[in-house]
Amino acid sequence: MRKIEQIPALTFLAKSRQIYKNPLPFHRENFQKYGNTFKISPKPGLMIHFTCDEKITQHILQKNQKNFNKSTLQTEDLGKYIGHGLLTENGEKWRANRKLIQPAFYKKSISSLMRTMDEVIQEEFSKIKTDEAIDVYEVFNDLAFKVVARSLFDLADIDDLEEKISRLQFITEKAQKMLIKELRIPWMKWYFDREWLSGENSVPHALELIEEAREILRNIINNRRSSDREPGDLLDMLLHSTYEDGSYMEDDQLVDEILVLFIAGHETTANALSFAAQLLAHHPETIAKANKEISHLDNKDLMTGLMQMPYIKQCVDETLRMYPPAYVTDRVAIAADSCEDIAIAKGSIWLISFYEMHRRKDLWEDPEVFNPDRFAPDKAKAYRDFYFPFGAGPRMCVGNNFAVFEMILVIARMLERFEITPVHDSIDYHPLITLKPRNAQLLFKKKAATEN
Ligand code: HEM
Repeated sequence: MRKIEQIPALTFLAKSRQIYKNPLPFHRENFQKYGNTFKISPKPGLMIHFTCDEKITQHILQKNQKNFNKSTLQTEDLGKYIGHGLLTENGEKWRANRKLIQPAFYKKSISSLMRTMDEVIQEEFSKIKTDEAIDVYEVFNDLAFKVVARSLFDLADIDDLEEKISRLQFITEKAQKMLIKELRIPWMKWYFDREWLSGENSVPHALELIEEAREILRNIINNRRSSDREPGDLLDMLLHSTYEDGSYMEDDQLVDEILVLFIAGHETTANALSFAAQLLAHHPETIAKANKEISHLDNKDLMTGLMQMPYIKQCVDETLRMYPPAYVTDRVAIAADSCEDIAIAKGSIWLISFYEMHRRKDLWEDPEVFNPDRFAPDKAKAYRDFYFPFGAGPRMCVGNNFAVFEMILVIARMLERFEITPVHDSIDYHPLITLKPRNAQLLFKKKAATEN
């Protein structure tokens, strides 16, 4: 068996503050030094492997995925805030719920959501301030949250749905911030656990807010159940779907799944859209090509129109290669295993870096260059084995089609209305739970045709 290089625990501990702040330089430095896999044992009995090896990734996520669970970071730490839904569950419960939820995200179902999606997008773009630098992350964060919310619920569900959606957004973002604090400053856990010390920045306060969010969701579900409306939104699809034994999902589980869809679906998409807009603005030649496709926008049949925008789709693919919002994932080996000449010990943790895999020089030509042409239809197949922006295998992102169609539509509508130019020379980011853009300012100018 091949020996995997181990970084001394002291070297890791000495840099731990830096690594918690931004792990990417640490990953890059060690992949360059030790190859595509290295390991660390931060404490006795715990072995973490870092990998950007495509074969090991396929083994863990696809070929032998049954032998790998998500780590407690996802099931317990994240689960504490967003409950136990698809993203945070393992085993049989995950399998049954995935089977029930998956059809709501088939292309046919998404097609019926496109009009609502488009309404939200147009509404948000009509609010954009032109001719001054604006942070696109703020625009796309609101937009992506509202797109998920309005795809799930109908305005007639409760009187003040818009207000409740804002409250849900505030709460889920507050809970995420709390989780980031807990993960990045673990030595302060005792402090965050005590409300009387840390007040609004405490874990109990965040959990109280999450309970409020659950109550809002329970109300919406109850109202829908007691009405005879069937608006054909995601909630409708979830309420009508059954498990293999014919039973329906319990309300508490439904609430957890909806929270998961909010968390998993809005920030990742907002990040990706912010990176995409910046990359396009930095490469006017790509905007010129994309502009040629926006005439396919068809208000009567949005989905068919989007399918005729292959270049914009390539821009989305290339953005997700360079800045995969889910830049890492992890798994724990249930039993001892091996992949080619690498031994996988029972209980070992495997942290897969999609970010590094997408930038490996031996896999990609000029990986640091934004080149949507590499995803042209006749070339894209070549990357199938090492391009994983949505993960791979049975736990691959359930919302991937939803996200891609949403992104194509947003980009097409943006280019239809605006000319965009960069404010900064480079694109900055900070890796938290997801890879988030930083200082994502752009200048929007109204296009002559839409000026009035
Ligand atoms: C650009 C946007 C998105 C990206 C990059 C992304 C990425 C990912 C990745 C990499 C995973 C797999 C994680 C793993 O294997 O550990 C995942 C899972 C998941 N995503 Fe997404 N996602 C996006 C948008 C969405 C949207 C729009 C939704 C729903 C509205 C969604 C819902 C989920 C759920 C529920 C899971 C868990 C699936 C399971 O474990 O069965 N995601 N996502």
